[in-house]
Formats: sequence, structure tokens, C-alpha cells
Amino acid sequence: MTKQPIGVFISGRGTNLQSIINASKNENFPCEVKIVFSDNHNAKGINLAKESGIDTFSLEIKDFKNKREFEEQILKLIKPYDLRLICLAGYMKILSSEFIEHYPNKILNIHPSLLPKYKGLNTHKRVLENNDDITGCTVHYVNHELDGGEIIVQKTVKVDAIDSVTTLADKVLKQENLIYPEAIKIVLRK
Ligand code: GRF
Repeated sequence: MTKQPIGVFISGRGTNLQSIINASKNENFPCEVKIVFSDNHNAKGINLAKESGIDTFSLEIKDFKNKREFEEQILKLIKPYDLRLICLAGYMKILSSEFIEHYPNKILNIHPSLLPKYKGLNTHKRVLENNDDITGCTVHYVNHELDGGEIIVQKTVKVDAIDSVTTLADKVLKQENLIYPEAIKIVLRK
């Protein structure tokens, strides 16, 4: 099977990146991570990618005149990879509409809540404050509305009375790491 080229954008730790890399080592997985981009030079995930022999680059927005120039440089650097998908995996910048239009229906994101509940940041804190007994995670397409694109896969996680933000984040993250490769498979087999 010819594997389709994908890119992963990160800002930090990279557990979701690692789970996608691991899945892609299976010969039946439909794609291969060809490039990892970080908007933070010190992201731990960059080293994970390098260890797997994947091309990486990082650019920080503070070194550019504005967001448009920052994104134009990213677009220029990823263009030669002819990416079938861009997977945002803990990427903490919001992509502009102009950027998204370069990759229509080709950008995915993972979010640590059961969207459409709890868009944005601090999802686990809000789940606990509201005494929800179920939370979870979502992989969705990226469109012009923050955390608002079509949902591809969701997984629920039970909230226990003793859960804190940390324990909940850990439980949800385990499920995130499982559903991201699953969602990629669904999208690429459509
Ligand atoms: C994950 O919880 C993801 O849902 C959120 O940022 C975190 C990234 O974790 N968008 P990692 O860098 O993949 O470990």
C-alpha cells in the first residue's frame, strides 16, 4: 500500500504525535508522518519526531512581523511535502482562515472534551466545576469556527468523584492517544 504523506503540528509534549507515529509503523496504516512542525523551539515532541527520523522544523511567531508572515513561512516549508492531511496535536495557535483554505477538509484537530461541549481551554476544570459525570475527547475537522468543525470520532471517559484536573487529563489523554490514529484511518479511507 502506498502511504499518504501527512504532517503533524505540535506545541509541546507530543503524546498524540507519538501515537500517530506508532500507528503509522503498521504497514496497513494508510499514511506516514513526513513532517512535524512546532511553533515552539523547545517542544518535547520535536525530539520524538527526530528519533523516528521524521523531518522537523520550528518557527516562533515572535520572530515574525505578524501572524500572516509566520503562517506564510509555514505554508512555504510544508508545500514540498504535498500533504494529504495536517493533524493538529496539541498545537496551541489558531490557524487563520487563509491558512485553512490552503488545505480544505485536510486539517484535523484533537480536543480534550466531548464537543460541542467545552470548546477552548481548561476543559477538565470546567467539567469538574459543572459536576459532569461523563467527559471525553474528540477528533474533528478544522474549519473557521474554533473547535467547531465536523466531528470524526469521539470517546467518552467516566468522571469519578475523586478526579482532579490532573487525573482527568490523564484518563482523557489515554483515550486521545487511541482515537487520533482511528480518526486518521476513517478520513483517509473515505
Ligand atoms: C491534548 O490534551 C490535546 O487534546 C490538546 O493538547 C494536548 C496535547 O497533548 N489539544 P500532547 O502534546 O499530544 O501530549
